[in-house]
Amino acid sequence: MVSHMHRGTTGTLEPEPPRNGPQRWLILGGGYCGMSLVDRLLAMGHEVVVSHRLGTDWHTIHQKTLSPQQKTQLQVVVFDDEQGIHPDLNRLGPFTVVLSTIPPGQGGVDPVQEGLGDALRQADAPWVAYLSTSGVYGNLQGGWADESLPLRSTIPRTRHRIGCEGAWRSSGLKPLILRLPGIYGPGRSPFLRLRQGRARLIHKPGQVFSRIHVDDVVGAVLWCQRHGYRDTVVNVCDTLPCPSSELLSLAAHLLGCPLPPYERYQDAEVTMGPMAQSFWQENRRVSNKRLLSWGYKLCHPTYREGLVATLAEEQGEGFNPMHRRADGLLAG
Ligand SMILES: NC(=O)c1ccc[n+]([C@@H]2O[C@H](COP(=O)([O-])OP(=O)(O)OC[C@H]3O[C@@H](n4cnc5c(N)ncnc54)[C@H](OP(=O)(O)O)[C@@H]3O)[C@@H](O)[C@H]2O)c1
Repeated sequence: MVSHMHRGTTGTLEPEPPRNGPQRWLILGGGYCGMSLVDRLLAMGHEVVVSHRLGTDWHTIHQKTLSPQQKTQLQVVVFDDEQGIHPDLNRLGPFTVVLSTIPPGQGGVDPVQEGLGDALRQADAPWVAYLSTSGVYGNLQGGWADESLPLRSTIPRTRHRIGCEGAWRSSGLKPLILRLPGIYGPGRSPFLRLRQGRARLIHKPGQVFSRIHVDDVVGAVLWCQRHGYRDTVVNVCDTLPCPSSELLSLAAHLLGCPLPPYERYQDAEVTMGPMAQSFWQENRRVSNKRLLSWGYKLCHPTYREGLVATLAEEQGEGFNPMHRRADGLLAG
């Protein structure tokens, strides 16, 4: 049964190893990564409390068929610091794990540290983690970024992120900070952009991007928690940074569709929004040596395997682009 399988350290489906009883996870931010992790945890038999903001269409996006058993495992709460709505962690806990996927809020503060910091210290979960971004390393002109580098991004959004990382580090919670580059996977892929005619083949000489498949965000979180890595930082990325045109070429080939017209970056730049421009302003290769030295084996070591798997899942029966696993089961 799929629900009793997991993608093992070799990237293949293996029977789920026995656990020391169910764990209780608090996942702050049930977005793309958060809900992919929720699916996996429910399939493993764990209990999960997951948060979203007030007024977002969370239930529409993540509506799915949960088995009666899974319904008893999942509790959905609203956490919205801007509206002053904070879940009562005393009532919801105790937790084995707390993971925040929430980006910097308005004004650049960390919504979780700001609104729930004291409650989290009281909850005293054995393992705490925070999803950050490898953007904190700034522009390295294509050089490699490992965890020992100083954080020198000059982009305001990322300066905020550096501040949020600082708030987590000094929180007393001893979190593991996982730094992620661009996240892709089913429902967030170049195939959708190609099909919708939104993909752009932009070339900037020497420019590369790092990336990570969402399965490996989930896999790395589980691996690091299982092995007790905490109070430090780790990059979570694949092993092949490359130009975005390379990735798009493979995606078009797999889809059997033509590539969009070639654009020089200097021509394309003026048509981009500030967020997209900021991505192209920085150029670095993110190193995963530390993660691999901890024994983690990537499900998708490069974008090549990742794209093949993504397309297979997007073409699978019941795939909902709003939520990758509309059937609530975990393929791996
Ligand atoms: N996307 C990328 O390529 C990328 C790359 C590197 C790092 N990251 C970072 O990695 C983390 C996970 O990424 P993701 O793609 O899974 O993010 P996502 O899909 O945007 O999910 C973010 C979650 O945080 C919640 N949230 C956002 N702002 C909040 C606030 N002020 N207060 C309370 N909740 C808030 C959202 O609530 P709703 O469900 O109500 O919207 C959502 O559940 C994020 O911090 C992201 O910035 C992303």
